[in-house]
Amino acid sequence: MAALTRVIPRLLSYNYSLPKRNGISAKPYFIYLTSIHQLRCKLLQINLFHTSLPLLKEVVEGGLGGDPYRRQVVLGIETSCDDTGAAVVADSGEVLGEALHNQQSVHLRHGGIIPPVAQRLHEQNIEQVVNEALEKAGMTVRDLDAIAATVKPGLSLSLSVGTRYGKNLAVSGKKPFIPIHHMEAHALTVRMVHKAEFPFLVLLASGGHSLLVIAHSLDHWSIIGQTIDDAPGEALDQGARRLKLRNIPECASMSGGQAIEYLATGGNPRAYEFPTPMGKYKDCTFSFSGLKHTLTRLIERLEEEYEVEGGNIIPPIQDVCASFQYAVTKHLVRQTQRAMVYLDVRDLLPSQNKTLVVSGGVACNQYIRAALQKLCDTTGYQLLCPPPKLCTDNGIMIAWNGMERWLAKAGVLHDEEDIAAVDFQARCPIGEDLTNDVRSLRIQAQKWVKF
Ligand code: KG4
Ligand code: ZN
Repeated sequence: MAALTRVIPRLLSYNYSLPKRNGISAKPYFIYLTSIHQLRCKLLQINLFHTSLPLLKEVVEGGLGGDPYRRQVVLGIETSCDDTGAAVVADSGEVLGEALHNQQSVHLRHGGIIPPVAQRLHEQNIEQVVNEALEKAGMTVRDLDAIAATVKPGLSLSLSVGTRYGKNLAVSGKKPFIPIHHMEAHALTVRMVHKAEFPFLVLLASGGHSLLVIAHSLDHWSIIGQTIDDAPGEALDQGARRLKLRNIPECASMSGGQAIEYLATGGNPRAYEFPTPMGKYKDCTFSFSGLKHTLTRLIERLEEEYEVEGGNIIPPIQDVCASFQYAVTKHLVRQTQRAMVYLDVRDLLPSQNKTLVVSGGVACNQYIRAALQKLCDTTGYQLLCPPPKLCTDNGIMIAWNGMERWLAKAGVLHDEEDIAAVDFQARCPIGEDLTNDVRSLRIQAQKWVKF
């Protein structure tokens, strides 16, 4: 029997390449495996088929502690900016446990993120956040298949905390470590909930990034447009600060983008005009600083006109928010439309199955989503967005990217020395830069999509 115990898992080791048992009950799966097992015994000329059947059954039902169909679980840790996040995710995409500590209220008081403050808060909270995610999953480190952590790009002081913690946990728990690129994780979160097959176009719009990229595979990305100054979330956050939106009680605990969306709902998006950024350049480059400065000048003018002082709010606040949100949206939509023209010219996406994925904190915005939906309806793309909760920074997206890498065996570190050698990187382009090629084609849409 002891010999059999050794032989059976070996006979079954090929099963890793078989379709997962997910969703198939043990009995039909046992019958299916039995036929393959019988064939294999014959091929290997091992006369063990009948004697090994009970053991095979045990293996299928999770016995021997080595069921190859046991679900895979990865812990993800996120500390690239101002959120301390952790989550345990299964290979099915099920979130088994998650925890998030948001530093927003502290940073709102400072009027922006102060890196040493963010670092201290990550250090104070990371252990508790990771333990909470594990506890909610009913697991300890021993139950995990691998540990993933964001190591790039982001604020150095913030990244350093999660990178160190994740590496230490992996080494002390004797688990593989998976270094994660924050923007790749944002872009692939959608695959937890929707069938987004490579290749697809991605618009990443957050507080730190504004990117149009092609996702070819887990490890192959091409940049077709990026910002030359601010990110859209940054412009919205600074605009909200200048508009003193924190002084409006309903907006006090909201991010800048959230507060502007909330107030814009009741306003007229055409009340104030903003210039179209990058209008002269026929490529997919973003620029939000001009919009930000136009907003500042508009606020100054309106404050004077309405004699607004101190912490008071200008009366046409809703129209200003709606017009600013419209300008930001128009810029995002136009550059995305240009990217679609570029992809057509270069034939970079399958003509029958074109997908635009939108993610990052700004993708929570329903007005922006609706405008992008119009663009996709006109251009024949399907629009896929993760649920708003998964668009902003969180541990789930890191765990899921870790899971995709774990299953694909891509970028998984097993060796203690390799894990020790991992360092965080504040800057790290997501992939090859195609922006010169885009520029050389002088992309112009025949007709801008209206929204
Ligand atoms: O992805 P994220 O959590 O962090 C970064 O990686 O930057 O994005 C945060 C950004 C903030 O700038 C915030 O103002 C923006 O996302 N944001 C929104 C909304 N919710 C969050 N922007 C527009 N509309 C929203 N509803
Ligand atoms: Zn982010």
